[in-house]
Amino acid sequence: MTADQERELIAAATAVRLRAYAPYSGFQVGAALLTADGRIVVGCNVENASYGHTICAERSAVLTMVAEGIRSFTAIVVVTDGAKLSTPCGACRQVMHEFAPNAVVVCGNLRGERTRHTMAELLPHPFGPADLT
Ligand code: THU
Repeated sequence: MTADQERELIAAATAVRLRAYAPYSGFQVGAALLTADGRIVVGCNVENASYGHTICAERSAVLTMVAEGIRSFTAIVVVTDGAKLSTPCGACRQVMHEFAPNAVVVCGNLRGERTRHTMAELLPHPFGPADLT
C-alpha cells in the first residue's frame, strides 16, 4: 500500500463511517479495504433490534468485496471515534483472514491517531482454507 492509497482508504473509511446504522451502541465504525487489483471497497457496521445480528464494518466490507467478484485484499483501514484505537473483533479477524492472510490492518480515529498491525499479529495460529485440504 502506498502512502497515497493509505490516505484514500482513511478518507473512504471516515466517510462511510457516517453511514453506519448504530442506534443501539452509538458506536459508528467505517472500514475501507484495498483489493489486490487496486480498488477500494467500503463497509460500515449495521446493528439490529435483535442485537446479535449486528454486522461489523470490517465484515460488511469483506462481504461487499466478494459480492463484487473480488476475493483478495492487501490492506484494510478501520476508523472509529473511540477513546482508544479499536482493532477488529475476533469474528472479523477470522473472516478477514480467509481473503487476506497477509494484509496490513490500519486502525484509526477521528483525531488522526493510527495503529498498524499485520493479520498474522492479530490472528496468530489461524484456522484457514489450508486446514481443510
Ligand atoms: N464493531 C465493528 O463494526 N467492528 C469491530 O471490529 C468491533 C465492533 C461494531 C459492532 C457494533 O455495531 C458496535 O461496533 C459496538 O460493538
